[in-house]
Amino acid sequence: MADAVVSGVGAGLDVERVRADFPPLGEEVRPGVSLRYFDSAATALKPRSVIEAVRECMAEYPANVHRGLHVLSERATEAFEGARMKVAAYLGVDDPAQLIFTRGTTEAINLVARSWGKLSLRPGDAIVVSELEHHANLVPWQMIARETGAELRYVELTEELEYDLDAFDRLFDDGRVRMVATTGMSNVTGIRPPIEEIVRRSRERGARVLIDAAQSLAHERLDVAGLGVDFAAFSAHKVFGPTGVGVLYGRREHLEAMEPVLGGGNMVLRVERHRAVWNELPDKFEAGTPPIAEAIGLGAAVDYLEGLDHQAVARHERALIEHAHQVLGAVEGFRILGPRSTAGKGPIVGFTLDGTHPHDLSHLLDRSGVAIRAGHHCAMPLHARLGIPASARASFALYNTTEEIDHLAGALGSIKGLLRRR
Ligand SMILES: Cc1ncc(COP(=O)(O)O)c(C=O)c1O
Repeated sequence: MADAVVSGVGAGLDVERVRADFPPLGEEVRPGVSLRYFDSAATALKPRSVIEAVRECMAEYPANVHRGLHVLSERATEAFEGARMKVAAYLGVDDPAQLIFTRGTTEAINLVARSWGKLSLRPGDAIVVSELEHHANLVPWQMIARETGAELRYVELTEELEYDLDAFDRLFDDGRVRMVATTGMSNVTGIRPPIEEIVRRSRERGARVLIDAAQSLAHERLDVAGLGVDFAAFSAHKVFGPTGVGVLYGRREHLEAMEPVLGGGNMVLRVERHRAVWNELPDKFEAGTPPIAEAIGLGAAVDYLEGLDHQAVARHERALIEHAHQVLGAVEGFRILGPRSTAGKGPIVGFTLDGTHPHDLSHLLDRSGVAIRAGHHCAMPLHARLGIPASARASFALYNTTEEIDHLAGALGSIKGLLRRR
């Protein structure tokens, strides 16, 4: 855990020290232009300790797991299963076998929709999602709804684009809701739905709950056991780990009852000509060679997260979002998507700038080293609700500074000026 940041409770975050952990920060993206990275919601930068853990695995023990009886394979297996244990401890899960390594959040949600959905959904049953969801938490449910005859219901947002618990309650009136699948944080507006309340009300009414923690986990811990969720999913690359790996948490009773979606090596105990016996958890859902170095990198990312002072990080990110609303909101023609208040919001600003297309904006900002995102951010239903085809997004992480946000505001102001002169 060479690069972990430890600051005392109550102390501010040592941002310069954090920034030194992330190689591209402070570097020039082209001559004379240094990077300002505001695209962490798409993928977070990786600290040196994660890069080193992946390199070490590749260079020193690039063996397959579980199968070999030689020293390199034993080392790889130990590190791979060690990563699972680290994730379990971070999520407050006693039994690491309840954590399945997947390719990411998308695959994890597809696994639940395919396997749990096929087992549990009947014609007329309902799955509840919200207008805030990423396509990863919509399309798999659309697919299984079509296949089983179930219905997909949306929690409509309020006028201010807040999560509406009254609208949520109304969806339960006919007693047909079997699954509530909700994001922990919108990847467009940064809004955090009231997760505790959603879980409590859903479970009280006998529905299962899945949390899409892809955005939230980089900013707040998720106590899956404490919350009592049925499933939770996240991607390593959004929590400072490598791409290509993610995690599905499932309650043991669900995972035991569910059928695997992929068949092949490792997920079987015994194979005969015409049938096979499934392996124990978690292997039952991990067919084939898993993303070994990536999972080990995720373990290092969890070490990194564990080494942080979470209160200091939360205060820093709060300061970032408040500053962003203030200085970006002051740019002429700048419109924030979602509530103007930063209360209950993660460090993500979805926006439009009058008279510019988000893609042009992103290209122009790139000239001054500013990386933002433009498009529909895989949230087309939310954009349809907003009545716009696309938007721009600046997303922040613990390594960003208020000075960088000032730079973004200045660059947006210059673009506005440039366009006025045309
Ligand atoms: C809220 C949310 N859910 C799911 C995903 C999908 O994550 P992945 O592409 O890593 O599977 C994303 C990615 O941006 C996201 O923001």
